Amino acid sequence: MARKKISIIGAGNVGATCAHWAAVKGLGDIVLLDIIEGLPQGKALDLFQAGPIEGFDADIVGTNDYRDTAGSDVVIITSGLARKPGMSRDDLLAANARIVKEVSANLAAGSPNAVLIVVSNPLDAMVYVAWKASGFPARRVLGQAGVLDAARYRAFLARQIGCSVCDIQAMLLGGHGDDMVPLPRYTTVSGIPVSQFVPADELAAIVERTRKGGSEIINLLKTGSAYYAPAAASVQMAEAILLDRKRILPCAVYCDKQYGVGGYFVGVPCLVGAGGAEKIIELELSAEESAAFAVSVSHVKELVAAVEKLI
Ligand code: 2OP
Repeated sequence: MARKKISIIGAGNVGATCAHWAAVKGLGDIVLLDIIEGLPQGKALDLFQAGPIEGFDADIVGTNDYRDTAGSDVVIITSGLARKPGMSRDDLLAANARIVKEVSANLAAGSPNAVLIVVSNPLDAMVYVAWKASGFPARRVLGQAGVLDAARYRAFLARQIGCSVCDIQAMLLGGHGDDMVPLPRYTTVSGIPVSQFVPADELAAIVERTRKGGSEIINLLKTGSAYYAPAAASVQMAEAILLDRKRILPCAVYCDKQYGVGGYFVGVPCLVGAGGAEKIIELELSAEESAAFAVSVSHVKELVAAVEKLI
């Protein structure tokens, strides 16, 4: 059986790190594309040369030409500007909408059966742009945010509890902004409610740190934003699709009747497999959780209204 083909658009830190994780996991052959001449070629060649050391056989090529992405099974879109200190994800809206629109249209032409994973910010609006510009069915367009945000939450909890990160299961909802909704009620430590391990005030502090997790890293790096965990999260989604793993992951997917969202991409638990977003899982929410989700969704709606004027 031929290897799967993964194209990664944008050879900056997130894109190149996606290529790195995907290669190490042996997910398939990799095409790294960027508009800057030499950048994707250089990074791809460097990564390809790590194969004999790490033991991966992936063919990895860099390119500036969309024709090389033709026939991709999964495409990860990381293109666009990253945040600098003091910028919100929304500040990137106009510039990145234009970029993601062009990228998605180019990709759709050569890879009409691919599943798109969008990572560019502001995430919830960029998934919408990719969906519109690609013309793909909504189930084949997913935004990566929840896996990253949940990973931050899980990592902080594991450190607080002093247990393995592998034993923290967590879910969160909403947009990829400071009003995202981590769900302590749906957080367990190997099936045991997290409240048994972490007092309410400490849990609230961890939820707050999770919400600001992206800004915390930008403020430390000063010249860019996070990339190891965003890339790992994107590749986990790609793996779920390429290996048809049917993972249940928090992803930005198209919700119409689900949760009463009414036709927007927002973060919800989703079964992810070869078909993309195969099934949205609806959770019972408390009044407080519903209210927080509604605030986050209203922010996504504002962003989409703004982006619709731009594309
Ligand atoms: C983050 O949360 C950049 O949105 C990305 O780190």
